[in-house]
Amino acid sequence: MKKIAVFYWPKKGNVEFSANRIFKKFEPGTAELHSIDEIDHVNLNDFDLIIVGGSTVGAIVWEKADDNNLWFDFFAKCSAAELTDKLYAIFGLGDQILYPENFVDGMMLIKKEFDGNGAKHIGKWPVEGYKFTGSEALDEDEKMFVGLALDEDNQDELTEQRIEKWVKQVKEEAKI
Ligand SMILES: Cc1cc2nc3c(=O)[nH]c(=O)nc-3n(C[C@H](O)[C@H](O)[C@H](O)COP(=O)(O)O)c2cc1C
Repeated sequence: MKKIAVFYWPKKGNVEFSANRIFKKFEPGTAELHSIDEIDHVNLNDFDLIIVGGSTVGAIVWEKADDNNLWFDFFAKCSAAELTDKLYAIFGLGDQILYPENFVDGMMLIKKEFDGNGAKHIGKWPVEGYKFTGSEALDEDEKMFVGLALDEDNQDELTEQRIEKWVKQVKEEAKI
């Protein structure tokens, strides 16, 4: 049976709430849920599929690559593990009304890190149903996000069906 890890950050907000909901869509015993600060207690090689999620909270947080930044610590540990051809998928929380120019930008940073380690990306998600003017988290033809975009601030009523559909799609792509 394939094993899945769901990693997320930060805790106590929309990301953690959504990560929980995604995790629960997998058969009991097949998936583990971890905040990214638990990476030291996890062997990434145990998993066939890694799902990673975060929120976009402005460039300052992402670009401050100091020792205290948990994301960069997480990426460094991922890079030390052997991720070549390991399947991964991304989800991202954002706010399309307050930040229409940078909607869910942060997903692209996760993608760059995992791609850089040779991991295999799955779980693209269509841009239909969102209203935004710009996002770094789009693939080349700008018709798809590089992962599941969730907006708990403005479209929380759509989150459940989006998660349901996306996880189903991810399972199919990963042949789970
Ligand atoms: C300071 C700040 C900056 C934000 N910047 C962005 C942004 O650039 N793009 C975006 O889509 N959402 C942005 N958001 C919205 C959050 O990503 C969104 O509210 C998310 O659900 C927060 O999840 P969390 O509480 O788990 O971190 C920002 C929120 C805050 C508070």
